[in-house]
Formats: sequence, C-alpha cells, structure tokens
Amino acid sequence: MPGQLKPAQGVVWYPLGDGKWVAVAPNRATPEKCLLVNGQEERLLSRISRDGGVSKKDVSASERECIDRWLDPKTMLLEEVQEQPPLESYGDIALSIFREYQSAKAFEGDHDLAAYHQTEIKDPFRQFEEVEMTVSHLYREPHVALDGKSYGARFAQTLIEEGALREGMRILEVGCGTGIFGREFLRAVKETEPEIYRLLKYTFFDLSPVLAQSQKEINREHEKIVSFQAGDAYTHPFEEGAFDLIIANEMIADLPVVKMHRENPSDGEVEIEAWEWSKKLGLDFTDATPEFVLNLGAIKFIERLSGTLAPGGRAFVVEYGSPWSYPVAQVVTNHTEYSIHFGHLLAASERFGLEGTLTGLQDFLGFSGETEVLADLTHLSIFGHLLPFLGVEGEPSRVYTGDMLAQALPSTYGRIENVVFVPLHSLGGIVYPKGFYTLTLVNRG
Ligand SMILES: C[S@@+](CC[C@H](N)C(=O)[O-])C[C@H]1O[C@@H](n2cnc3c(N)ncnc32)[C@H](O)[C@@H]1O
Repeated sequence: MPGQLKPAQGVVWYPLGDGKWVAVAPNRATPEKCLLVNGQEERLLSRISRDGGVSKKDVSASERECIDRWLDPKTMLLEEVQEQPPLESYGDIALSIFREYQSAKAFEGDHDLAAYHQTEIKDPFRQFEEVEMTVSHLYREPHVALDGKSYGARFAQTLIEEGALREGMRILEVGCGTGIFGREFLRAVKETEPEIYRLLKYTFFDLSPVLAQSQKEINREHEKIVSFQAGDAYTHPFEEGAFDLIIANEMIADLPVVKMHRENPSDGEVEIEAWEWSKKLGLDFTDATPEFVLNLGAIKFIERLSGTLAPGGRAFVVEYGSPWSYPVAQVVTNHTEYSIHFGHLLAASERFGLEGTLTGLQDFLGFSGETEVLADLTHLSIFGHLLPFLGVEGEPSRVYTGDMLAQALPSTYGRIENVVFVPLHSLGGIVYPKGFYTLTLVNRG
C-alpha cells in the first residue's frame, strides 16, 4: 500500500486545552520529543489513525503540508505503510551469529562484575527501576498475565504444584535483588501451605551490601524463617549438601565470561583455564565463530550448586539466553552482562551429576501470552516523554494492561489518544519473557 499513511509506532497525542495539543513521537531525531499541534492538526492525526489507509491525494492542500512535515525524519509523527517483509528464520539465525561474533570481537580484558555489585549499587529500588529491570521486578505485583499473582508468588505456586516444596526444607536464594521475589514467594507458601512455611529455612545470599539491606528490611514479616549471607556465589565455599532447594533468578548473566579463540587459543591464563574446563566437560565448539564468549562463571556456578545441593535436591536457575546461541553482550545502563548459552550449562550439569531440564520461562510460570499490554514504543512515549512534559508522576517499571494504566493515571490515561496495546507474546510488549529460560537441576545423589 505505498503512499498510505499511519501514525508512526508509539506516537500519542494529548489535549492541553484551548484547542492546543501535544503530540509525542518516541523516535524523533531531535532531542525534543513533544511537539505542539493545533486542533486542526489533531483532527488530521485522528483521522489518519482512525481510517488508516489515508493517502496524500485524499487530503486538502493545507493538510498535505502537515503530512510532508510529519513524514520528515526529524518529526516522525507519520510513516508510510510498508508491507511487512516475510520473516526468514535463516535471517534470524544470521543476525544471531553476527551478534555473537560482534560480542566476542568487542570483548577486551577481564569481565568480572563483582566489584560493580559490591560498590556501585547505591539505591536498591532505583537499581531495578532505572538500571536493570528484571522480569521479576516488572511483575512484582499481582498481574493478570500470571493469573493474578506476582512473579514470586507464581514461582512458589509452580514449585508447590511440582511437589518441589516440603516441610523442613532448607532453601537458598542466590542474587536476591530488592528482596521482593523472596517476600512474595514466602507469602504464597504461607498462604497455601502454612505447615510447610512454618518449618522452612530460607537463606538470602547476595554480593551487594545495599541490596542485602533491602532484602532484610523487606522480609521482616518472615523473620522467623529467614537468614542472610553475604558473599560472591562464584567463589563462596558453600557447605556440602547444605540446601534442598536453590533459586537463582536472573543472576547468572552477572557471572564472569571468557573470550575464546577457536583455532588459535591465546596463551593467557584465563583462556587456558577455560579450555581445560571445556575439555573436561566435553563442550563442543564446532558451531562457534572464530572468536566467541564462554559463560565460564555460570558453568563454575553449576558445579558449586552440585556440591551444595543435598541428594534429591533441586535448583531452579532463570536467565535470558538460548539453548544454542553463544553469549551476546547486553549493555545494561552502567555495566555489561552476557546472555547464557544454556546448551553448555546443560552439558556441564550432566558432568556434575545433575539432571538438567530446560523450559521456557513463559511455560514454566504459565505466562498468558494473549494478555494485551502496552506496546513498548507507546510505553516509551507515555512514560519517557509525555508524563514528564505534563509534570505527572508515573511508574515506568511495569508491564501495563489498560486497567492498570487507568488505575495508575486516573486523570491522564483516558485523554491520551492512540494508545496501542499488543498481545504479550508479540515482540511489541516490553520485556517479554520469551528469551528467558528456567534450567531445573536435580541432584541425583
Ligand atoms: C539482575 S539482579 C536480579 C535480582 C533478583 N533476583 C530479580 O530477579 O530481580 C542480580 C542479583 O544478583 C546479585 N549478584 C550478582 N552477582 C553475584 C555474585 N557473584 N554472587 C552473589 N550475588 C550476586 C546482585 O547483587 C543482584 O542482587
């Protein structure tokens, strides 16, 4: 449909009174994202969004001027409707390999985030609001996509349904963020299985003193059954067989990685050690690019888990990554993390006597992919630009449904035009849990 027009993705507009409007375009080239438009221009935008398929020849001369301006890359309020190119799966694979190779090429020196976690995290809540939004943080409150439960509560429910929780269990949570996951998890156990709850021993383990303090404060209500340990999960000498259940939610991407050279390994100490581990574990790198990244820290962490899990015990390790793609760098505001090659972790688990199963996080927690949520660019326009422009406070760190938005912005939401929702399973929704996996490990003893 060449020549036909629609508002560019994420464009919203809002009345300011006196026939004036503000239109917000998330992708505009200029730093100023909010553009003042008059009532006539607003009517044109509304018409194009309502009717779709409006072409330049269907409009008056003065409207055509607006359209020309709004199609300009600096303004980007409108775009021409393009036929979607068919998605080629080999195109996706090529892109993935390109990213893996780029990540390895750009990798220089050491990669160890221990110092970052020990000293750079200053404010627990802001860390997950502004620096690194985890899935568990985005769903920290009951959400319709999780059957009305919070992430931590749904996690507990899943484990209860799997028969993974019983009385007297010693649970270790590694890398506990604000502490909300643990609080929600324990609340759900208390509510559905009070007898199991009463006799649990739940240990929070973290490297960041600031986050550890938040974990303590947030979990006062569970004080009879919780304890706190500080340390680096990568090096900490966990006691053998000390835990029956271990949870590491969105933590292993923080562990060290190593750059590897497939044909001519460097004689650096770190790479030599990584090759020794790889040989011991029988890892196969024939599908790797000439330089690639290895999740050595996560592999060593799995070994530690095998030692500290009691016979018959289970671990649940959640992170983003893929069963077959090599680690890719993810720049998270002020530090870089690496996605996980779960195929390598599964192979390592086997060697360490753990029975590993990989499940998509969506299936593991039963996320409803059909839930309609705010599209990511609309989210950016509203929370990143419109609300600050209007001086209205908003909480960006949520996956909003219409009802949630109406509740959060009672006097603003109903007046914003062109608010787009998409099913959670489409890539338009923010932080879709599709790229996340749960690795379940059972110590066969
Ligand atoms: C991305 S956050 C995830 C927090 C929480 N589990 C969540 O899902 O929101 C990673 C957490 O792991 C902790 N962490 C990172 N590296 C660690 C290490 N080597 N040992 C122990 N904790 C670590 C961080 O301090 C932080 O609490």
